[in-house]
Amino acid sequence: MKAITVEPGRAGSARFEEFPEPGAREGSVLVEAVAVGICGTDVEIADGKYGWAPEGSKRLVLGHESLGRVIDPGPRETLRRGDLVVGIVRRPDPVPCPSCAVGEWDMCRNGKYTERGIKEIHGFMSERWRIEPEYAMKIDSSLGLLGVLLEPTTVVAKAWEQVSAVGHRAFWEPRTVLVTGAGPIGLLAALVAVQHGLEVHVLDRVESGPKPDLVRALGATYHAGAAADVGFQPDVVLECTGVGAVIGDALQVVSSGGVVCLTGVGSGGRVGTLPMADMAANVVLRNNVVVGSVNANKRHWYRAGETLARADRSWLAHLVSRRVPPEEFEKALKREPDDIKVVIQFSEA
Ligand code: BGC
Repeated sequence: MKAITVEPGRAGSARFEEFPEPGAREGSVLVEAVAVGICGTDVEIADGKYGWAPEGSKRLVLGHESLGRVIDPGPRETLRRGDLVVGIVRRPDPVPCPSCAVGEWDMCRNGKYTERGIKEIHGFMSERWRIEPEYAMKIDSSLGLLGVLLEPTTVVAKAWEQVSAVGHRAFWEPRTVLVTGAGPIGLLAALVAVQHGLEVHVLDRVESGPKPDLVRALGATYHAGAAADVGFQPDVVLECTGVGAVIGDALQVVSSGGVVCLTGVGSGGRVGTLPMADMAANVVLRNNVVVGSVNANKRHWYRAGETLARADRSWLAHLVSRRVPPEEFEKALKREPDDIKVVIQFSEA
């Protein structure tokens, strides 16, 4: 079979090449790939800035936003041939730390977790892949190709749970949410916040293209420009850009008692000479919480499945803005102006 592989740490090493069929040790469920979404993490890995190959191997099969069709469900009866499934990304560390021991691998404390397509286990950009049945999430079959949006939705489902958990440290009746960034994570974050009945505002740099209309179609308000200028103090900021200046603005604009949840993984982003103590004083005097959130556990995978199943299909379909065949994967790794979610499509859903 063929797979898209990369040598982690070496920029420009990605190839679509012959690769051995997945071995039985990788899981008893055999899956035919339908599509794999591309996110910033994949681009970072392809650029040699992130990612780790499995022990004993030089190359890593890329891809963590999966969608596939079960070819062989294996001995357990939990899945059937033809089911559409998405593979959970992270595996608990082997020690295990207390979080991994209770199934909260997203909160791993010792960093020894592994992640498919990212850290020490092969990903899903291969024509066939295998998975352990307990890590294969069956999706609502009416979603079809849109099931490829499940993994990014899990990231948002976890972030929302974090905001809610933090919020409940005190009397908590949030009304307004500001989402910074209208990429896939930002738009899915807006979807989740709308489904929770909040007044949602989404901010991005662009003034045209599909993003403003997608935000409005959710019943949310679109803002172009700086978060500092939105004209209100949101109870919750879901920060989905990872950009230093936007993060700085988010901390300034959030309401007293409000929560800022950081989901973007940026780098650098020094903002002038940041008055750190002044900013901290602001956080103290206004009882703010800044919480980082990464990955997702099974609870969030379940919730994300519910979110997508309830969402308007044509709205979701607009998020998948470009489909690329695997032999042209390099085109998928290059951003184009109107891209939202680019997917590599291996077969029909
Ligand atoms: C993935 C997460 C993963 C994180 C860090 C993200 O792109 O969606 O599942 O935990 O990268 O590796």
